[in-house]
Amino acid sequence: MKPLRKVVIPVAGLGSRFLPATKAVPKELLPVVDKPLIQYIVEEAAEAGITDVVLVTHSAKPAIENHFDKHYELEQELIRRGKDELLEIKRSITPPNVRIIGVRQPETLGLGHAVLCAEPVLRDEPFAVILPDVLMYHPQKGCMAQMVELFNQRQTSLIALEQVDDSEVEKYGIAAVEGDDLRITALVEKPKPADAPSNLSVVGRYIFTPRIMELLQNTLPGAGGEIQLTDAMAELLEEEQMFGYMFDGKSYDCGDKLGYLQANVDYALRNEKLGNDFKQWLNQRCETL
Ligand code: UTP
Repeated sequence: MKPLRKVVIPVAGLGSRFLPATKAVPKELLPVVDKPLIQYIVEEAAEAGITDVVLVTHSAKPAIENHFDKHYELEQELIRRGKDELLEIKRSITPPNVRIIGVRQPETLGLGHAVLCAEPVLRDEPFAVILPDVLMYHPQKGCMAQMVELFNQRQTSLIALEQVDDSEVEKYGIAAVEGDDLRITALVEKPKPADAPSNLSVVGRYIFTPRIMELLQNTLPGAGGEIQLTDAMAELLEEEQMFGYMFDGKSYDCGDKLGYLQANVDYALRNEKLGNDFKQWLNQRCETL
């Protein structure tokens, strides 16, 4: 199989759970401390050795691609004012060796459809998918870098999994697994706790063999009338082996208001410049709660 060099990041969704913030500002550009979500995601992909970032975007959200574009006037002004540190921050928005490629999803027909929109750029290569509203923190090695390492050994599709409380399985895609190597035997979308085959949820990081694209082409609308990635994955499972990958860091669902707030607090506490002051303030604040 060809080496893994590309990631698909679907960013065409409506972000309705985060209204009113996401009326004019794409959810993917909401900042966690001082950086938009999408920038953390592109950095995670770059750390994994991925060179081609395919953003599946929507006509209402051109600001996402603009974020990664050169802004000549801003750079000239920062140079003129001698703002070297800010200039460096601006210039490092797109990691070196990374190309940002934009494709459009004309209608939000579902995550599976969004991934399918990237097909002309992917051809017959394996590729990663990262959901941009899930931040995955690890102090040493990002989730995608860990998964690419495993992919290089196994050459099979992989899905990042995370343990959730039994009472929470209803909110997620849940995987049934077998053996120490976490071979996936079934995928169930949002099961009732009594029917859940495990408490391992699918958390927004995938690596696929090229076959998934062919399957997506024939995937009919499923739950909610949307073309579901999970449906194509279930078909892939009948043809190829697929494994789970247990991420040992911390994930934040930033598409959800509580998860987003938690991410801001944790990333602020870890921030080199702000961390100590913020911690002090937070400690005092907590005493008065
Ligand atoms: P979500 O369902 O979490 O995001 O899809 P959303 O639709 O933007 O948010 P809500 O549910 O209305 O609040 C996961 C990811 O898939 C993208 C979204 O942009 C998000 O990053 N997506 C979803 C697409 O690109 N196209 C779609 O048709 C659906």
